[in-house]
Amino acid sequence: MLKPHLEEARKRTKSLVKIEDFHIRDDLKTLGTGKTYFVKTYGCQMNVHDSENIKAILEMMGFSETFDMMDADLILLNTCAIRENAHNKVFGMIGRIKHLKEQKPNIIAGICGCMAQEEVVVNEILDKFSFLNFVFGTHNIHELPEILNRAMHQKNIDIEVYSCEGNIIEKMPAKRDNKYKAWVNIMYGCDKFCTYCIVPYTRGKQRSRRFDDIISEVKALKDDGYKEVTLLGQNVNAYGKDLHLEFDMSDLLEAVAKIGIERVRFVTSHPWDFTDKMIDVIAKYPNIMPYIHLPLQSGSDRILRLMGRRYTKKSYLELFDKIKKNIPNVAITTDIIVGFPSESDDDFEDTLDVVRKCKYDSAFTFIFSPREGTPAAKMKDETPLKVKEERLHRLNELVNEYALEANKKYLNKTVKVLLDEESDKEGCLAGYTETMKLVNVKAPKEMLGKIVDVKITEVKTWSMNGEIA
Ligand code: 5AD
Ligand code: SF4
Repeated sequence: MLKPHLEEARKRTKSLVKIEDFHIRDDLKTLGTGKTYFVKTYGCQMNVHDSENIKAILEMMGFSETFDMMDADLILLNTCAIRENAHNKVFGMIGRIKHLKEQKPNIIAGICGCMAQEEVVVNEILDKFSFLNFVFGTHNIHELPEILNRAMHQKNIDIEVYSCEGNIIEKMPAKRDNKYKAWVNIMYGCDKFCTYCIVPYTRGKQRSRRFDDIISEVKALKDDGYKEVTLLGQNVNAYGKDLHLEFDMSDLLEAVAKIGIERVRFVTSHPWDFTDKMIDVIAKYPNIMPYIHLPLQSGSDRILRLMGRRYTKKSYLELFDKIKKNIPNVAITTDIIVGFPSESDDDFEDTLDVVRKCKYDSAFTFIFSPREGTPAAKMKDETPLKVKEERLHRLNELVNEYALEANKKYLNKTVKVLLDEESDKEGCLAGYTETMKLVNVKAPKEMLGKIVDVKITEVKTWSMNGEIA
């Protein structure tokens, strides 16, 4: 048994990152023959892509996918630790698994992902949910075959979580959810240590993938007919810094654009590392999409300092304006936390002020959730929940107003949409504009996977409707 350890997870050393290729032992390739698996994913795109790797590994072992948990021989929850409500959802699901295991004791069930990296969570599992068969973390997805092999042949729960800085595993297989757009990891982990955030503890130190490995992956995706790639990292703008080489994120972005895949996106950007060179590259290449997610978190300098964000309201607004001015037609979205410890009405007004100035295309808004082990969890927090909820409500009203305003500019315009899935709306396909607006388009299924000109006929706050132009 290897339990997670918070102190170990916090450590950062100068030790070299080990890069290994994924490998599966021949004798484990039949472990799942005739059996089904159900994977449920919580959290961010990083987790979504991890699940794509997990599913491919399970299929290499002979398992086949089921979308009904009741039918599954193997159940795996890929969890998120970012806020308390993500936790609660997972524990609710574990309760359902308990019932299921009472009826079908042969089911194998376990959890992985960011929650598995948390000491408090693993202790709670050992205490109350030890009917689970296995727990592994974000650092050892590649060991899934061995972990399952043990779990399937022993009675006790198998816990194998590394609280290390992390390595890089290349040649991981992926069963991609979408045939036209793909996630590509460019880096793992995070060294920013914003005081509210659990990610540097759950995902290890910042490790950039080798330039050539990323380029080969994108080239292969293009050859396979993919139209869009999204370069993924907690902090993509810091790409390459840990490699101490000559190139940075702007060079990588440029090289990826030159491969000629139709659409290139990237998430998430920290305002701290956003260089002028990045802005120039985005503006220069028509296949780099004019869409940037630029988390603000707070508009108050005092709160930003407490959060450890290393920018001010003024410098954020300067960067914002520079991006807007230099990238034609760019859409910018953001993340905002309300109710950070000691946030006053005045601090919150500063946040509203930034939102009024930036008029974001959209924003993800959250109430601060203390994460055990992070510095902010220990800060004095006297604001009542009710006040935080009121702030969130006011913020959301403002955000929605601007989101609708931004969308209204699209009415009767013709825009390019990559139709990438069937829409919930009858007879429609759904897809995104270059600026990441969701559009439902009346179109036959044969148009799936095509980038088409769409005339926008109706706009709402969260989506638009259109017809083929
Ligand atoms: N509480 C609330 N929101 C958080 N986020 C990250 N950590 C916390 C927390 N402890 C938000 C940030 C981040 C987004 C992914 O989640 O806004 O950008
Ligand atoms: Fe993603 Fe962060 Fe949630 Fe982990 S904790 S799944 S990195 S959002």
